[in-house]
Amino acid sequence: MKVSAKAHPNIALIKYWGKRSIPLNLPAVGSLSITLGTLETTTTIEPATGEEAYYLGGERVCGQEEKRLRAFVDMLRIQGANKAPLLIKSHNSFPTAAGLASSASGFAALTMALYRYLDLPLTIQGLSEAARQGSGSACRSIHGGFVEWRRGEDDDGSDSIAVPLAHAGWWDLKVLVCVLARGKKAVGSREGMALTAKTSPMFQGYVDGQEADLDTARQALLHRDFDALAKVSEASCLKMVSTWLTTYPPLFYWRPETYAVILKVQKLRQAGYPVFFTTDAGPHVKVICEGSVAEEVEARLKAWPEVLEVLNCPVGGPATVETLP
Ligand code: PMV
Repeated sequence: MKVSAKAHPNIALIKYWGKRSIPLNLPAVGSLSITLGTLETTTTIEPATGEEAYYLGGERVCGQEEKRLRAFVDMLRIQGANKAPLLIKSHNSFPTAAGLASSASGFAALTMALYRYLDLPLTIQGLSEAARQGSGSACRSIHGGFVEWRRGEDDDGSDSIAVPLAHAGWWDLKVLVCVLARGKKAVGSREGMALTAKTSPMFQGYVDGQEADLDTARQALLHRDFDALAKVSEASCLKMVSTWLTTYPPLFYWRPETYAVILKVQKLRQAGYPVFFTTDAGPHVKVICEGSVAEEVEARLKAWPEVLEVLNCPVGGPATVETLP
């Protein structure tokens, strides 16, 4: 038997940064995301002829990364009857580990594939719980459209699940991912979050304001109120960035090009275009706009010298899985 799963990355509009439990990978705050169509991770699982092996983009995964994957696979394998070694191959249609949320789509696709291959009972809670332990934001990629990952209160994390808020067709928004640099980021999000929670004096302020931001974003989504979503999303991103800058040692995920592009996006909005920015733990800027102006905005972004490439993404659907002959 062979299974193949696909999942899209997502980007948070209301940001998750920091954990309430490191071992269970539970977030200090809830978050709200938009799923990025077009970009995707495809993961296949089949029986291994020799030892268990994992491949990403055609290259064998080794060292710490292999250990992390193995622990994840074992966590689910223990729940099923099939204990045989697996051959797992993953491929991203976009640059890996550069702040483009490849871990989100990667662990969402892997979770879906393992659930099918190991014949585990599919429940929203189970999928969220599993994907989240691979990478927090991965639980949001199980669903399509606009998704909220609830912080939850329970110590065992059973109420910290991702739930869909609106399907992909609800609002014709486009995410224009501006790639500003090549290469992997210096500090991973796990390490960065732990440092921030420990050392940043701004961290508590960001946590305290999160519920209000989530509420504003939910309302903006419900009423398709672009200006309200723009305002609260940019504020959430900047609050997260303020915690990075006040972490010790400071986390400089942004580069001068990031600031330059953000200032230009703000000018576009002042000129009347429905656009706003967000970023994740990397230098790239994601520009969100109304679908009606996406082509024009994309043409403008491509003309800016800081922008190496623009990936134009509609709102994407949920993760899927199929059994291959
Ligand atoms: O899911 P992780 O551990 O890769 O963390 C994601 C952190 C941010 O992308 C910066 C914010 C978010 O909510 O996705």
